[in-house]
Amino acid sequence: MTKKMNERSLIANASAFAQAYIPSIFVARQPEITRLRSYLAPLVRKQPIKNIWIHGPSGAGKTCVAKFLLNELEEQHQIKGVYVNCWETETFFSILDKVVRDFRILGAERLSTVYKMERLENYLQSKPLLIVLDELDKPSPKERDSIIYNLCGIPSVTLICICNSRYFYYILDSRVRSRLDAVLLEFKPYALEDVQEILRQRAELGLKPEAAKQAVLRKVARLANGDARIAIQTLRHAASYADVYAGDRIQADHVKSGHSIARNAKKKYVLGKLSDHHQLIYGIIQDFGEVRSGELWKEYLLRCKQAGMPSAAPRTFSLYIKKLEEVDLVTSARALGIKGNVRVFRVRR
Ligand SMILES: Nc1ncnc2c1ncn2[C@@H]1O[C@H](COP(=O)(O)OP(=O)(O)OP(=O)(O)O)[C@@H](O)[C@H]1O
Ligand SMILES: [Mg+2]
Repeated sequence: MTKKMNERSLIANASAFAQAYIPSIFVARQPEITRLRSYLAPLVRKQPIKNIWIHGPSGAGKTCVAKFLLNELEEQHQIKGVYVNCWETETFFSILDKVVRDFRILGAERLSTVYKMERLENYLQSKPLLIVLDELDKPSPKERDSIIYNLCGIPSVTLICICNSRYFYYILDSRVRSRLDAVLLEFKPYALEDVQEILRQRAELGLKPEAAKQAVLRKVARLANGDARIAIQTLRHAASYADVYAGDRIQADHVKSGHSIARNAKKKYVLGKLSDHHQLIYGIIQDFGEVRSGELWKEYLLRCKQAGMPSAAPRTFSLYIKKLEEVDLVTSARALGIKGNVRVFRVRR
């Protein structure tokens, strides 16, 4: 029965839609890849290079290009590399731990940072180590400074920092920024035609032939607004919808439903990585539809009490809201017709 159903599915190869999938052909990113290869080339000759700071919006290919180049350097030139997602590993100590564990330099002993650094330097013996620090906008500014400052202090380590904005580079502590001294590289959002081509290739890999017509791919691309991840996930969910209705190809209304699932899944993913306080504040804004700063604070205190959670101080509360805005879950504007700095918050649709 299951086999029969799978045979009928429009999705021929689910792994082509997996988050971890790294394309072998990059649409519209050859100039960036060429530039990155030329920045990284001296490493092969064991010459020092500058650190790199990649920035650009969500779904612009930053992570997959960095992972692709990390693999290439490792396979073709035996250059060691480590990929760190700073959302999951968000302090210098946990990153150092990860590096040491990845290379099996030490056992599970709880050892001092200084000792771990010494062992790492001994292990590297001045051979280059490339560390990709992805999602670097997620740790607090203080933690970000500490991660970069300390990693830059390890001889033979080069950093590729990835972030949504160059703003985070400029707000680094000035000593940290001058120690990092990175070259900046922007990944601009994809044009409509680029997203369409990414979808065409992904459909070829992951869907049955003829499952998605050109017009459907164009509709998916238009809805994705330059974000390749949203585009690919929309296509995948649209195909699942078509399966539910036993369609032999994806139709326009499947795309609409697929898009809303892809967007909600992204919101959930982003929210799921934030603290209980962020989630509580987001819930209030969602329930109110539109809420002013004062009201939001009062409701926050009330809900914390109801949930038996200690409430944060006003300053930390403001940081929570700022974070929700930074990750694009919430928008704010000055409240019209009211004196003073009153803001109105809304959930981003
Ligand atoms: N040029 C491309 N060609 C083919 N597929 C791509 C391309 N760029 C991105 N993708 C695909 O789009 C998805 C999102 O890409 P990626 O995760 O690299 O985005 P990102 O810039 O890191 O986004 P975020 O800031 O949200 O982390 C991935 O599944 C990737 O396979
Ligand atoms: Mg990424």
